[in-house]
Amino acid sequence: MQIDIKQGNILETEADILIVNLFEGVTQPGGATGAVDKALDGQISQLIALGDCSGKLGDTTLLYTLGKLPAPRVLVVGLGEAHEFDGKNARIAAAKAIHAAKKAKARTVATIAHGAGIGGMNPIEAAQALVEATLLESYEMPAERSDEDKEPRVEKVTVVEFNGDHIPLLETGAQIGRIIAESAIFSRDLAATPSNIATPAYVANQAATMAEKVGLDIRIMEWGEMEALGMNILLAVAKGSDEPPKFVILEHNKDRAEELPTIVLVGKGVTFDTGGYSLKRSDGMWKMKYDMSGAANVLGILRAVALLDLPLHVVGLTPLVENMINGHAQKPGDVYKGMTGKTMEVISTDAEGRMILADALAYAGRYNPDAVIDQATLTGAISIALGQQAAGLFTEEDALKARLLAAAEATGERLWPMPMYDEYKDYIKSDFADVKNSTAPERGAGVSTSAKFLQHFIEDYPWAHLDIANMSWTNKAHPRPMYPPGAAAFGVRLLVQMLRDWNG
Ligand code: BES
Ligand code: MN
Ligand code: ZN
Repeated sequence: MQIDIKQGNILETEADILIVNLFEGVTQPGGATGAVDKALDGQISQLIALGDCSGKLGDTTLLYTLGKLPAPRVLVVGLGEAHEFDGKNARIAAAKAIHAAKKAKARTVATIAHGAGIGGMNPIEAAQALVEATLLESYEMPAERSDEDKEPRVEKVTVVEFNGDHIPLLETGAQIGRIIAESAIFSRDLAATPSNIATPAYVANQAATMAEKVGLDIRIMEWGEMEALGMNILLAVAKGSDEPPKFVILEHNKDRAEELPTIVLVGKGVTFDTGGYSLKRSDGMWKMKYDMSGAANVLGILRAVALLDLPLHVVGLTPLVENMINGHAQKPGDVYKGMTGKTMEVISTDAEGRMILADALAYAGRYNPDAVIDQATLTGAISIALGQQAAGLFTEEDALKARLLAAAEATGERLWPMPMYDEYKDYIKSDFADVKNSTAPERGAGVSTSAKFLQHFIEDYPWAHLDIANMSWTNKAHPRPMYPPGAAAFGVRLLVQMLRDWNG
């Protein structure tokens, strides 16, 4: 989608639809909305008086200009209460507006940058919010269909700004917004690609192509190297599949590792999760192609970090495996010793995510990191706890927790802190190894015990775990603004924000 910033008067702009906005409770619109209202002989103020245009956050009202403006239609989008307005609401409004414009079959749209005028927002942030929301809301998953549908799509958005001083700021914000949105889309495309295509090797190749384009260092570890490192817990999962595992290591500012803060991001990369011999039930199993959403996010985040050239040493680690069944596959009761030298007992081969993360998190320690954050579609239980409203946050590091919660607040990618009580360690005690990977048949505290399992393999660095299993795939029945049905890349905007804010 083409998005241009243009200095000019929105009244004179040609487009299928003009988008303006309105705060809740305003009866006489000002700014660009006021100008449009005047040009339409007070139509907007009349709709407000009638209660047909409320200004409620995300509400849209479509009206016709009947030759009074070059554009045939105007869409008024609500910004909600002025005192509650922020980047989150600017994104929701922009997403709802572009959604309504598409529904009205517009191909070209002209809009003002919500919040940059009366909203009092910094034009850089306003443009970033607008571009992110527009691109993410317009996302459609890759599909192989022979009957291409002919539904019109918005092809061009022109952001019109009257004040010439704001133009360079809007340009900057738009560029940041595009980098972040396209990085999330990179992640979404990978997560949505069926697993017959998106094998560990495919994902590693995509990572390599991307790394080359944006200038990241990349190294891909093969079986032999992982074996030499003692990653036997990770390989226990991999050996059940004919697809060879890959371990991708991406680095931004590798040559400045000594002088810059080092943040390591780890992402669960199970390209398909059948459950193994602890086989999953078949309904819904197809979705397990997105069990590499954590890894896809890490690749997307590293892409953004490189393009934004953040002054940090950022390392991305993605263990990539397929959880399958064959004659070599791991079995319940097996015991494996991983890279840290600690052992684990397999209770469920379906608790494979924590297994590959155990060795990936052990490897993360090699970078002497200031923080390690992993993202994983780890448990079904997190959905039971939180639904599709927030990802689970597990950490005992107050400073890191504060950074993550601040980024969650700024981006609207919510995190909810979950407990990591010491007592949960008892739940994963094993009779045959240091820990066991599942509490089955006990089911209590399934999320906290999974985090406790991971913590067992953490050595001496600040660590946080994000369980994104509930947030990584948007159900058709419950799309949210900016998250159309399908792969969500939830966590990309969040962590890019945290990294952009890292140095204060
Ligand atoms: N990939 C699943 C978790 C999952 C479930 C993600 C639903 C997205 C949607 C994970 O590997 C898994 O199977 N977890 C088990 C753990 C259990 C065996 C301890 C689960 O949640 O049932
Ligand atoms: Mn599983
Ligand atoms: Zn899994």
